[in-house]
Amino acid sequence: MVLAKLTVALALLGEASAIQLPLSLPKIPHIPNAVTERKLVDSASLQERIDPDNLLARAKALFEVAGASVDEYNHPTRVIGSEGHRGTLDYIYETIHGLGDYYHISRQDFPAVTGNVYESRLVLAHDVPKSAQPMGLTPPTKDRQPVYGSLGLVSNFGCAESDFPDLTNKIAFISRGTCPFGTKSELAGKAGAVAAVVYNNEEGPLSGTLGTPTPDHVATFGISDKDAAPYLKQLRHGENVDGIAYMDAVVNTITTTNIIAQTTEGDSENCVMLGAHSDSVEAGPGINDDGSGTLSLLEVATQLTNYHVNNCVRFAWWAGEEEGLLGSDYYVSVLPADENRKVRLFMDYDMMAGPNFAYQIYNATNAANPVGSEELRDLYIDFYESNGLNYMFIPFDGRSDYDAFIKNGIPGGGIATGAEGIKSKEEEEMFGGQAGVAYDPCYHQLCDDVSNLNLTAWEWSTKLISHSVATYALSFDGFPERTEVEGKTLLGAPTKYHGHLLHM
Ligand SMILES: *[C@@H]1O[C@H](CO)[C@@H](O)[C@H](O)[C@H]1NC(C)=O
Ligand SMILES: *[C@@H]1O[C@H](CO)[C@@H](O)[C@H](O)[C@H]1NC(C)=O
Ligand SMILES: [Zn+2]
Repeated sequence: MVLAKLTVALALLGEASAIQLPLSLPKIPHIPNAVTERKLVDSASLQERIDPDNLLARAKALFEVAGASVDEYNHPTRVIGSEGHRGTLDYIYETIHGLGDYYHISRQDFPAVTGNVYESRLVLAHDVPKSAQPMGLTPPTKDRQPVYGSLGLVSNFGCAESDFPDLTNKIAFISRGTCPFGTKSELAGKAGAVAAVVYNNEEGPLSGTLGTPTPDHVATFGISDKDAAPYLKQLRHGENVDGIAYMDAVVNTITTTNIIAQTTEGDSENCVMLGAHSDSVEAGPGINDDGSGTLSLLEVATQLTNYHVNNCVRFAWWAGEEEGLLGSDYYVSVLPADENRKVRLFMDYDMMAGPNFAYQIYNATNAANPVGSEELRDLYIDFYESNGLNYMFIPFDGRSDYDAFIKNGIPGGGIATGAEGIKSKEEEEMFGGQAGVAYDPCYHQLCDDVSNLNLTAWEWSTKLISHSVATYALSFDGFPERTEVEGKTLLGAPTKYHGHLLHM
């Protein structure tokens, strides 16, 4: 999802926060007054300061913050635009602010498109296809009322204007494939359609997003290949199929905020950068996704204040990750080339404490990614090996906030503990937990609360984050110099995913 390039909006926090912070915040450790009391950072010593009790106390505080959304959403959530998310931003800001002048903090506002479908219905002939789902960021049907029209079959994949017949007052019926859903919907609108249905060209239901809105988008549903088959047959025989589409939905642009904290000490021409996302999905409080990464970073940032650093350390808390990596995309898109080159690498920490965890390392190689990504991957391997822990590789395929960095020439990588994927028998032997069950059975659900954390996994993940920060804050010796500002593209073709959202 490409956002318009807007001017850099780095503003310091203005008004006082509206949210009252919970009282149960862990105590901030003793911060040396005189800089001379600080020792030079070292990994073992920083790791020793990671206390799972601190992490757990922070998780409880964050869950309380998520509760501020209950009035509006009927359940705790930290989705962008909610009180729970604003409270999260306040919590992060106040925690870093409380560390004195060790960090320079900034808030970066950016526009984010959010959508909500209140009600929807699709009728084809006289049936309601079971698999029908509204696409993310779909506009409503006209006047948010049902529209009636016969189905208009679109040729090929509906990626070119010439694939579309005149669809005035019709419902476009389009195959998935080749181009984003947003393009298909836009071309359907241009051809006069009142709504669009995209049917899967692979087995199974189709749940995706239209991505950045355009004025020609029409209300769009996804349906399965199976549900589409009988109508496709009729349409190909030249028969008429009537349909009814109803979508009561809104698409809004809101302002949300990234928070960036950079050490005032250290070589500012050579920064190690790391990030986690501050927002959750609408469905739940997101305490593992990515409350865990958010709080790991806060705890490491807090403990780091006991040390001198040689290189600058820059922490980021991204917003809008769940809407399609909006915050990290925005940040990188407005980073001037000379600033881009100062970022030696970016480390992504999303989901650090899954209850049925596996120690996962993004398989980021130098062949497919900016040079340095593989050295980072190998640092993670070394950490697990030297601590006698098993690990596995997972694809580095654009599903989290590293995406904009590697596409813009910045080496990247990271670790995770698993999302909706199912643990195998072999992984059960490697990591414990339960085979046949998701790594995080509460992924993107209401139950992603404080009980959805494994503290053993969280402690190791946070120690590893400490190790990565300490290593590069101390020295980039042996780490490749930055060169290009253009990144390699992973597969030479656009990826189906951007964040967890399917857009093609
Ligand atoms: C890691 O990626 C490389 C290519 O970049 C590939 O050759 C290798 O098989 C991958 N390893 C795993 C375990 O996925
Ligand atoms: C967390 O994982 C460890 C290691 O697999 C396990 O011993 C422990 O019981 C788990 N804790 C919880 C609360 O599930
Ligand atoms: Zn996440």
